[in-house]
Parts: sequence; C-alpha cells; structure tokens
Amino acid sequence: MTTPIYYVNDVPHIGHAYTTVTADALARWHRLLGDDVFFLTGTDEHGLKIQRTADANGITPQEQADRTSARFREVWEMLGISNDDFIRTTEPRHITSVQSFMQAIFDNGWIRKGTYSGQYCVPCEAYYNDADLVDGNCPIHNRPVEWLEEDNWFFELSKFEQPLLDWYASNPGCVQPDGKRNEALGIIRQGLEDVSVSRTSISWGVPVPWDEGHVFYVWYDALINYATAVGYGADPERFAEWWPAVHHLIGKDILRFHCVYWPAMCLAAGIEPPHRIGVHGFLLVGGEKMSKTSLNQIFPADLVTDFGVDGFRYHFLRDNPFGPDGDFSYEAMVTRFNTDLANNLGNLLSRVATVVGKKCDGIGPAPSPTSPLAAVSVEAYADTAAAWANMTPSLALEATWRLVREANAHLEINEPWKMEPGPELDAVMGDALEVLRLVSILATPAMPDTCAEVWKRIGLPGTPGEQRLPDAAAWGGYPGGLAVDKGEALFPRMTMPTND
Ligand code: ME8
Ligand code: MG
Repeated sequence: MTTPIYYVNDVPHIGHAYTTVTADALARWHRLLGDDVFFLTGTDEHGLKIQRTADANGITPQEQADRTSARFREVWEMLGISNDDFIRTTEPRHITSVQSFMQAIFDNGWIRKGTYSGQYCVPCEAYYNDADLVDGNCPIHNRPVEWLEEDNWFFELSKFEQPLLDWYASNPGCVQPDGKRNEALGIIRQGLEDVSVSRTSISWGVPVPWDEGHVFYVWYDALINYATAVGYGADPERFAEWWPAVHHLIGKDILRFHCVYWPAMCLAAGIEPPHRIGVHGFLLVGGEKMSKTSLNQIFPADLVTDFGVDGFRYHFLRDNPFGPDGDFSYEAMVTRFNTDLANNLGNLLSRVATVVGKKCDGIGPAPSPTSPLAAVSVEAYADTAAAWANMTPSLALEATWRLVREANAHLEINEPWKMEPGPELDAVMGDALEVLRLVSILATPAMPDTCAEVWKRIGLPGTPGEQRLPDAAAWGGYPGGLAVDKGEALFPRMTMPTND
C-alpha cells in the first residue's frame, strides 16, 4: 500500500493528510484480514521545484529536504499513520535503485537521445502541449508556464500505446474508480509522445548512469520509489515477494504519471505494472484548490486540536467519498462528529456502561445467539468488507454505523434502564456489548485509538487491531463475565462555531 511521496517544498496540509489517512485505513483493513501488508510513504526531494524553493529560502536543497521531510514524518506520527517504511528519494538505496531501473529500460532499447523544448510548469515538474494550457496557464496551477529547451534522453512512450491498452484490457479493475480508469484510457487513446527523462540544466537529481552530466527528470526518479522500498535492484527475493501486488493511492493531479507513464515504465523495465491504482479527487477549500499562494491551506494540527486524531480521521474518511472533489467544511465536520461519534457510538457505550454498572454489578453479560441484531451484524459486515475492498471508505463506515444505529434503536425499544435485573435485561445488554465489540473491530481502520479504548472498556483483552476477519466478525464473540468500565465520554459534543 503506497501514498504518493510528497514534495518537500511545502509543509503537509489536509490534502496530503486525506490521501495518507485513506491509505493508512486501507492498510489497517488489510491487516485485519490477515494479509501481509507493507505500507509505504515518504518524500520526493529532487527536481527544479525543490532546488528553487531552497534557493529562495537561502539553504541547500538537502537542507530544504531534511527540514520538510521531518515535518511530514511528524504529522504522520501525530495522525497515527502505521507506515512500515518512510522513503526519501535522496537516500542511497533509492539512487542505486533508480539507476538500475532506468538502466534496465535503456538496455531493453526503450531510451534514445533527442532535443526537447516545450512549455514547462515548475510546480507540476511537467511539460504541457499548447492544447493543454488554459489561457496560456498551467491547467492545474493556473499560473504561467515557461519555455524550456534541452538535450535529453527520451523514453519511447509512444511505443507503449498498444501494450498499455492490452494491459488495461486484461486488468479491468486496475484503476479505481471506473471514471478515472476511463480518463487514463482516454489519454492513451489520444496518442502518446516520447517523454524526456533526463536533464542537463539542473544538478539536483539522480545521475544518469550511462551519461555523466545528466540527471533524471524528477518524475522518473520519484515513481521508482515504490520499487526501491521493496528491494528493487538490491534484494530480488524481497522484491518478488511484494511485487506486483501493489496498491497505489494518489490524487487526480498525478493520474497521468501513475496510470500511463508508470505502467509503461514497468513494462519497459520488464516487470509487471502495479495491480491497483486508486485515484481520488481534490479536497477544496471554499471551492478552490489549496495553495500556499492563496493562503487557504488548512493544517492537520489545527483540526486535531478541536476534533482529536480519530475525529479528524473519521471525518475525512466518512465525508469525502473516494473519487469526486469535495469541499472542506468545518461545520460539516462538527455535524458529523456530533451525529456519528458523540450521539451514536459515544452514546451507545455510555448507555451500556451505565446500565451494566447499575443493574449488572458492572459485569457485562453475554449476547443472545438469537438476537435480532445478529442478522443486522451479518449484513453490516458484508457491506463494510465489500466497501473497503472497493476502496470506498465512506461507504464502509456508513455500513458499520448502520449497526451502531440499530443497536441504539434496540436499546430505545427495550429500555433496559427501566428493566429489572434478570435474564431479559442481560440479553439486551449482552447484545449491545457484542455490537460494541464488532464495531471496535470494523472501525479500527478509521479510529484505531478510540476502538482500542472501547475494547478495553468493555473488558476485552488485547486490541481490536489484533483480531482477524472474517472469523472475528461472527456474532457472539463477546464472552460475557467481563468488567465494564464507563470512563469519561468518548466524544464530548461540540458546539457549532458562530460567525462573529
Ligand atoms: O505530486 N486534495 O507531490 P505533491 C486531495 N511528488 N489530495 C491532495 C490535495 C488536495 N487538495 N493536495 C495534495 C507530488 N493532495 C509528487 C508525487 S509520487 C511518485 C510523486 C495529495 O506534494 C494527493 O494525493 O504535490 C496528490 O496526488 C498529492 O498530495 C500530491 O502531492
Ligand atoms: Mg502537487
């Protein structure tokens, strides 16, 4: 499971966090299924953009990279990201891997020399055709492009039109969602031109092994990080263990690189392209893309202060359907927090713990095998699992929360707070405790800390993250006879901000 490696010219904002939290949740879901997971993130540290940012800051590109890469690490740690590795493209392991990967493409005869000139967008680190420009500006950054001309090495991408179409035809699910797959196919069908993979105008990059004085163009260095981290060129056995069972998660801005160039590079180097590429839309602020120049960036720490880490994670996973663009809204975040977390999950735990404390001597009873909630849980599990498999976290959490709501409704119908102690009350409480056990497991990918806390409070040993699906999702796993601890409110209700 991979995220993009982020450029070190800019500090992490909620757009980066959206991708990384989603990848983290998917990685955690796969771990629950018992899959071997290697979850990779990191930073992209070469190229003109970084060199210019460093110049502007009066520091070396390496200093720029060291400082900003550390900021990404800190933010991922704060957000509970469970990455197994953090790759930096300036590391020696990556330099040798890029050189062997590109050398393989060269040796296979897919790289030739030529001159390149064109309109270049530095923030994109990409050339554009005149037809791509919007009023002469970069279509992504809406700012002027510049004319660049240089002697370059070219990757013969034009020869990969048919191989790519064949690969897409035999891997229909490789790009998710379908709309993004069609976008990639559209780019390929329009016709592909050879792309320049090296440059002489800058030195901040990986040297071309067969031609001193050239460095690789930053994208042909960056994409290879995914292979480096699992041992490409250094440890063939390890590489074979993980590749090509790779799931890339990216934003739509880098679709062309991941869904066209990268699979072609893999084919040219003689390895299989990655199995899965999930492409999501942009998170907008006031209808616009976040950028340093618009001063509209929102930073994860600001929201974590108000909502906590799990409130932050839950919001972005639940409220931003994977695929389309979505506008960030603080008000929507408060509403979601109060509805799903305070009123539903938080309330379920607090009601159950209160009644168990008062009427069951604080010891949670076992669920009833014939509970009406058993059937609800079967359906909730099936829908949750299908949605995670489709890379649609918002639908997965919606399915899980149907079970939470049904459990609350079950309490409201039975009113255990009015019942006398006895087997009937025990069954109602046991059923609700069983739902809390199930939800702790199913929501762990989104809210690992909260779920571990619920797990502990209902008296279960270990953590929900250690459970294995689908077995752990079978109704009746809560054994009963465990001490239940009410504790503090999990999610104290938030008040809506006023506009003054
Ligand atoms: O493109 N909404 O790095 P980058 C949603 N180094 N996601 C967003 C976002 C937003 N507003 N803003 C950023 C690069 N992202 C290259 C990648 S990979 C081999 C090299 C996320 O720092 C989204 O995942 O510009 C997007 O694709 C990525 O950050 C771009 O990060
Ligand atoms: Mg970018």
